[in-house]
Amino acid sequence: MRRAIFPGSFDPLTNGHLDIVERSIDLFDEIIIGVLNNPDKHPMFSPEERCEMIDEVFEGFDSKGCKLVVESFQGLLVDYVKSRNGTAILRGIRAVSDYEYELRMALMNRRLEPEIETVFLMAAEEYSYVSSRLVKQVFTLGGRVEGLIPDLVEEKMREKLNS
Ligand code: PNS
Repeated sequence: MRRAIFPGSFDPLTNGHLDIVERSIDLFDEIIIGVLNNPDKHPMFSPEERCEMIDEVFEGFDSKGCKLVVESFQGLLVDYVKSRNGTAILRGIRAVSDYEYELRMALMNRRLEPEIETVFLMAAEEYSYVSSRLVKQVFTLGGRVEGLIPDLVEEKMREKLNS
């Protein structure tokens, strides 16, 4: 059973994240999208809202037999991966600028749990500059973000800003 954990803040999910999941479904039997619940951060969406949104985005998505699970986690990533019997941590790399941060995390996680591998996939070029942080900033300041995030996520961001 090849079970990967795709961890992240997903505040919110972008088309770059979707692209990584789409690329992974042939590689794993199960992908758990692990939404970090970090009470110290001040996210736009609660972990519950983020999980619901991701679930909705993947409704009707053809995952070609790969099981997709969405849930939130707290604490150390490697402890979470172990608790779910995961064999790999899945991360996307957009550009060279991601590499150093990702390398440090992967090496730290390897030191903590040598048997868990981190697998990196390259995001599609068209999403190489897309991050949740930039999308939130642009959207909050009235800029256009269509094509960068799923329509449903844009709707939820609009609702959030108007509430
Ligand atoms: O989408 P992000 O915010 O870049 O994801 C970062 C994430 C969630 C992968 C990272 O912050 C993480 O693993 N947090 C859990 C705490 C932990 O294990 N920290 C040590 C990682 S070396």
